[in-house]
Amino acid sequence: LSLTGCGFDLKPSQTAELLRSTAPLPEAFTHPLPFPPVAKPVRTANGVDHYRITQRKAKLEILPGLQTEVLGYDGQFPGPTFDVRSGRTIAVEQVNHLDVPTVVHLHGGHTPADSDGWPTDLVMPVGGSTGGHEHHGGHAMPGDVRQGRRTHVYPNTQRAATLWYHDHRMDFTAPQVYRGLAGLHLIRDAEEDALPLPAGDREIPLVIADRAFNADGSFRYPALDPTLQSTPGVENAYMEGVVGDVILVNGAPWPALEVEAARYRFRLLNASNARRYELALDPGPGKIHQIGSDGGLLDKPIEHSSLVVAPAERFDVIIDFSQYAVGSDVTLVNRLGSGSTAQVMRFKVTRAAKDDSAIPAKLSSYKVVPAPSRVVRRQWRFRKGQAGSHADWVINGRPFDPSHMEARPRLGDFEIWSFVTDVHHPVHVHLSPFQVLSRGGGKPGPYDAGWKDTVDVRPAEVVEVLIRFTGHKGKYLIHCHNLEHEDMAMMAAFETI
Ligand code: C2O
Ligand code: CU
Repeated sequence: LSLTGCGFDLKPSQTAELLRSTAPLPEAFTHPLPFPPVAKPVRTANGVDHYRITQRKAKLEILPGLQTEVLGYDGQFPGPTFDVRSGRTIAVEQVNHLDVPTVVHLHGGHTPADSDGWPTDLVMPVGGSTGGHEHHGGHAMPGDVRQGRRTHVYPNTQRAATLWYHDHRMDFTAPQVYRGLAGLHLIRDAEEDALPLPAGDREIPLVIADRAFNADGSFRYPALDPTLQSTPGVENAYMEGVVGDVILVNGAPWPALEVEAARYRFRLLNASNARRYELALDPGPGKIHQIGSDGGLLDKPIEHSSLVVAPAERFDVIIDFSQYAVGSDVTLVNRLGSGSTAQVMRFKVTRAAKDDSAIPAKLSSYKVVPAPSRVVRRQWRFRKGQAGSHADWVINGRPFDPSHMEARPRLGDFEIWSFVTDVHHPVHVHLSPFQVLSRGGGKPGPYDAGWKDTVDVRPAEVVEVLIRFTGHKGKYLIHCHNLEHEDMAMMAAFETI
């Protein structure tokens, strides 16, 4: 099934201003692709695996010869990868050795509300200091301040999928993710294990994120740098979301990976604050076989010649490098970028190899759920808010207010949610995945297949999704995953009842 070339034209927001590095940019394709470490449990008790992650600052050499201070889970950027089994509960104790409060959210997780990372469920710094620039105050939470830790319980009661975890602190998510607080969380299950997919050294995470750097190697970010805020154009860079001129994959700029002429499975995550990519392989034929989306495997593979990936979306894909001659250099390009942002990484096809893997015609028992006749309908309007206020972006006319529940969906009910936009917004819903029913009054687009938790809604478009919350009662979020928009209040709460 080929969905490419059907005229689905997805252009990025034209208003986003490129934030340019003042550090010298390194030569592309010289860094080997790094791999985030895999998190290891510290103990297992009563069938629950316990992990401990320390959030701390670290200096990493991201650009050659320069040090970048990151806020890292275990001092890593990206953070350690959780690699867990469907249905097996894990408990993750997060210890905050940073000087800012944090909140941890498992994106795509079917998580009880008290572990979901509500934007004011702060993990206060161990030291109790919140730094000088905070406006939420850092006092009067004795237990949390003294201990500086919080345990999140993830039941992983969901099918195999590529999830990720990241900071979610109210008003400060964008700078804290930009500075490094993001990592992968993979769930595996028996249905997926039974498939002959590429595995082991041929299953590779690709966490793609753009950044800009100051001359001293530090991350360049408008809100962290007062001199930038007064620069013409940079205010706009914040308003529309921060897009940098350096493309990192697994934390390295434009890296290279040696591959054999065989099939590889890549778990793509766009962990960028605001940048969209249209990923393609150069030279052709460049076939990309999509096998999964945000919420796990599709029913059958979809062949693409390029993939448009909005912030927070995941695509599980297979690339067969035997479509290239041994010795080929194959560049993963970004057709929505230009100059330094037009390329992402390079694959070097080094040798022929035996390949026992396959791309099965049937991947999973995934089914499109027919929309039932009795269904609750809700509309979510993503719009510009009051100019110059804290609430530059709003949902249904209201800036995020953690005490206001915009909807009270009943567990088990089917609902059709319509997302209505002014400009481009990647819309994300917590707790339960959805299926895209329609886009712009027509059929879903080529990148909308499968269970999704984030859908890219183009300017002045309506996307309808079918959603059904299950399992957990409590307060959850819907928001724009352009993280600067999110911080400028484009977020709403709902309560499952
Ligand atoms: Cu990826 Cu509410 O977040
Ligand atoms: Cu937005």
